[in-house]
Amino acid sequence: MTNRLRRFFALALTFASAPAMAHPPEQWSIAIHGGAGTMSREEMTDEKRAEYEAALQAALDAGAKVLEGGGSAIDAVRAVIVMLEDDPRFNAGRGAVFTWEGTNELDASIMDGRDLSAGAVAGVTGVKNPILLADAMRRDGRHVFLAGKGAEQFAAEHRLEQAEPSWFATDHRLRALERFKAGKVSAIEVDLKFGTVGAVALDSAGNLAAGTSTGGTTGKRWGRIGDSPVIGAGTYADNKSCAVSATGEGEYFIRVGVAHRICSRVELAGEDVQTAADAVIAEVGAIGGEGGVIVMAPDGRAVFAFNTTGMYRGRADSSGTSEVAIFAGE
Ligand code: GLY
Repeated sequence: MTNRLRRFFALALTFASAPAMAHPPEQWSIAIHGGAGTMSREEMTDEKRAEYEAALQAALDAGAKVLEGGGSAIDAVRAVIVMLEDDPRFNAGRGAVFTWEGTNELDASIMDGRDLSAGAVAGVTGVKNPILLADAMRRDGRHVFLAGKGAEQFAAEHRLEQAEPSWFATDHRLRALERFKAGKVSAIEVDLKFGTVGAVALDSAGNLAAGTSTGGTTGKRWGRIGDSPVIGAGTYADNKSCAVSATGEGEYFIRVGVAHRICSRVELAGEDVQTAADAVIAEVGAIGGEGGVIVMAPDGRAVFAFNTTGMYRGRADSSGTSEVAIFAGE
């Protein structure tokens, strides 16, 4: 064997026996929301504010913990949304708003920016965590969007945890339905203050993900579905551009195609995420809609944009940022 050949085999052996190189520790980032709407500082007691801030912080911490431990963006998004779905303060899972008929019908979606895999469910009534059902569909990969009975059947076949209607029903949402039916308050007023939940994340491998979950709008009828489970309206994630989760009046967010529109502006027009998010929320406002978005850029920049007086929100990242806020200007 020539010296040259010997050197070649020695080198090949070195590479073959070397342990897989660990991914260098890199940055991660996460942002969450718990709904946007018309909020008044006067009506928000210190006690109530502390309660909401603690709930947001706990969900944010759950997502940050996943990312800090090297978990994926999709796992972090799921962890945050499960916590917020289980918290009766928010309009998702337990504590969802009531339909006109007095039921809780839940919508959710999730998307992985690494491969554009997505799952979405609408009008689900017996699955404890709709975001887990959406994610099970995403992983299954045969369909993106299931509604009603079919979605429930998929959940049962995948052994997802079920829940009785009483798990989702809360007194304060029932009172909101009664006020709505009596014409004392609009669906926007009763819902948007305590709204939809969502999360966007960037993991240390550079992948983006987004997810959103909601009970929809108080007094909704005829199987109404909002933007939250509509990929491209309430949720979108693409490593090439950004990850978005929306909250607000779904009808307007669907018409504008909010989440995908923001990502398109970033990808095709080269806008930064804040400029794109502000422009698209302005478009929602121009046709009469209210609400907001959280957006994650591939470099870990997390931004908020909303045209309401407040949005329950928070963000954390690997540089040590960890903050929650409620009103505009905070
Ligand atoms: N944005 C939640 C909904 O309209 O259903």
